[in-house]
Order: sequence, then C-alpha cells, then structure tokens
Amino acid sequence: MGREVVVGKIKVIICQDKQEVSREAAAIFIQAINSNPEIVLGLATGGTPVGMYKELIEMNKKGKVNFSKVKSFNLDEYAGLDGSHPQSYRFFMNQNLFNHINIDKSNTYVPEGKFCDCEQSCRNYEEAIKKNSGIDLQLLGIGSNGHIAFNEPGSPEKSRTRKVDLTARTIDDNTRFFDNRNQVPTQAITMGIETILEAKQIILLATGANKATAVTGALKGPVGSRLPASFLQGHSACTFIVDKAAACEL
Ligand code: GLP
Repeated sequence: MGREVVVGKIKVIICQDKQEVSREAAAIFIQAINSNPEIVLGLATGGTPVGMYKELIEMNKKGKVNFSKVKSFNLDEYAGLDGSHPQSYRFFMNQNLFNHINIDKSNTYVPEGKFCDCEQSCRNYEEAIKKNSGIDLQLLGIGSNGHIAFNEPGSPEKSRTRKVDLTARTIDDNTRFFDNRNQVPTQAITMGIETILEAKQIILLATGANKATAVTGALKGPVGSRLPASFLQGHSACTFIVDKAAACEL
C-alpha cells in the first residue's frame, strides 16, 4: 500500500515502484467496475498504464472483474493513422487490453484518426460521451511537459475534442514507439481539457524521474495552460498514483 499525502484537493498515493502503481490503480478500477458494472471508463495509452492493463487482464481471467457491460472512451488518437496501424492508439488498446478481456468492442470508443471530416467526427465523439451520461472514471498519464491526453502546453481550459499540433518534445518522447522520428505523426485528435475535467473521478498515473517536474507542476504549480495537468487542481475527485521517482520533487 502506497503512502498517502494530500496536496490541495488532490490525493497523492506514493508507491515504491511501477509495479505497485499498477496494482493500486487496477484495484481502484476493479472496485469501481464491481460496484457499477455499466460504468463508463475513460482510458489512456502510453507506456505507463500497460502494467495496470496487465493486472486487469489477469483479474478478468480469474473472474474477479467483468467487463461485459463496461463502456470506454479513449483520450486521443494520432491524426492520419487508421485503427489497423500498429502505432495507432486503437491498435494499442486492442493489443494491450480489449483483445484479452470480455469487453464488447462495440462499446469501446477511440477518436477517429483517419477521417474525411475531422470537426464532425470530434463533435460526434463528444456527443457519444454525453449520450452515455459522461465518463465515470478517467485514467490519465502525463507528458514530460505536463500534457494530459494530447493537450499540449498552451491548451485552453475550455477546450473540447479537437485536432491539435504536437510539440517537438512530445514527438521526441513518443519516437521510441516508432522506427524513427519522421514516422511520428505531428498532429492528433484529443479530448479537450474541459472534456476531461467533466469526468466524475480522475486517476493520474506517473512513474519515473522524467515525470517528476511535470508531477510537481501539476500539483503545486500555478494553474494554467503552461502546464495543462495543473487544471486538475480544480477537480474535486482526482487522485495521483506515482512512484517514488516521479514524486522526488514534491
Ligand atoms: C502520450 C499520450 C498521453 C500519455 C503520455 C505519456 O503523449 N497522448 O495520454 O499520458 O503520452 O506517455 P507515457 O506513459 O508513455 O510516458
């Protein structure tokens, strides 16, 4: 069990390592799904949540959690990538979670990356979230520059699902998933900050020393677009689950 501290309105659980972060986060998700089998989840990609997804797969196989009525909305998708592209976030979610649990894939939503009418498709995404009465439990990672989803520094608090440009730093950070930097898309479709803040409960995961400055800024820095995760300070049910390395500047 991690050590708990409270910073403003945010509960911070500080764990020994990445594995403990994954276990703590999975336990929260399992409890939430068991108490509301029709829960609407907000899901994230990136390296950080993979361990938690592994835990969820294991617990689903053991019969400890049932996804048959769960719905999910992913935060973001690379612009220009089709869901069958190995680096697309739809592909990532299928590979790392959906293919291995008893979720109905037609209940899993990921923003459309390859489309003819982006604005319409972003509006449809927002509509689908509303039609399902909003997101009950939202999982987040954090970029080393403090981005949440693909809301890069400069993103307004009132933003909704839209197409955005990625910063050079995010492209650098995400190059590790591609063969080379030139293959990383320069734009993405992302839920907005306001979309994310409307979730009833938010869990942010961060591991590793390269996230320490972003985590400290998110929790203790001035609230503003310079560090988008700082807007979470205004949410009334937000928990950060971090390892000691990511908490080292707190
Ligand atoms: C990407 C995603 C974010 C994620 C971030 C951190 O840019 N759009 O949703 O939180 O990367 O990723 P990682 O967990 O790999 O550090």
